[in-house]
Amino acid sequence: MTARRPLVAGNWKMNGLSTSAAELERMIDAAGPVASAGVELMIFPPATLIARLAARAAGTPISIGGQDCHARPSGAHTGDIAAEMLADAGAHAVILGHSERRTDHGETDAVVRAKAEAAHRAGLVRVVCVGETLAERAAGRAVAVVARQLEGSVPDGATGYDLVIAYEPVWAIGTGHVPTAADILEMHAAMRALLRQRFGGEADAIRLLYGGSVKPDNARTLLTLTDVDGALVGGASLKAADFLAIAAAYV
Ligand code: PGA
Repeated sequence: MTARRPLVAGNWKMNGLSTSAAELERMIDAAGPVASAGVELMIFPPATLIARLAARAAGTPISIGGQDCHARPSGAHTGDIAAEMLADAGAHAVILGHSERRTDHGETDAVVRAKAEAAHRAGLVRVVCVGETLAERAAGRAVAVVARQLEGSVPDGATGYDLVIAYEPVWAIGTGHVPTAADILEMHAAMRALLRQRFGGEADAIRLLYGGSVKPDNARTLLTLTDVDGALVGGASLKAADFLAIAAAYV
C-alpha cells in the first residue's frame, strides 16, 4: 500500500479577525515536533485573512487554504471568490462541498464538482467533503449517500496530489458526537473501494480525512483507524494548543 502522509487541517469557518494572526503565530511556534513526525498541517481561515496568514505561514510547516471558491475564473458574481484569487492570495488548498455550504447555499454534487475542477485549474489542492445526515444513517443509507456524493462531487483525473476527501457525518459536526470506530472503518473502506474503481492504483494515494467533533481526547482513537489519513477539525482548530494536540496523534 502507498504510504500516505497524515494531514491535519483546521477549518476556522466564519471565525477570526486580524487578532487571530496571533493564534497562527502560536501554531507556527509549536508545530516543530508534529511537522518533524511527518504530519502535514493546513489552516483554512476566513477569506479576509487568507493573504495575511499565507504571507506569515510561507516557509513554515503550515499551509493556508480557502473555505470555498466559485467555479468561474472571473466575472459578474458579486461576493464570490475565484479559485485563481485564492491562489493569488497565497492559498494552497480549498475546502469544497462542506455540509454547511451544501445546506446554507444549496450546493449540489454537480456544483461541488465544478468548483473542484476550477480549483484544479488554479493549482489548488481540493479537500472535498462528504457525509450523511442522521436520518440517512438511521435509515441505513449512510454508505449509499456518501457513495453518491463521492461519485458526483469528485472530478475525473484526480490524484493523491490534488485531491483529499473529508468524511464528515453532518450529525457529528459541532455536536460532540462521533461515529463508532466500526462505522468509520466501514465508511472509509467503502470510500477507498469506490475510489479504486474509478482511479485504479492512484486511489491508494488519495488521503481520506475524518471530520466531526475531533478533539484532543478522541484524536488518537479516531485518527489511527485503518484508512483514516488525518482530520478536518472545526472548533478545536481555533486554539493552537488543541489543534496541535490533535495532530500529535501521529507523533
Ligand atoms: P467540528 O467541525 O470539528 O467543530 O465538529 C468539523 C468541520 O465542520 O469540519
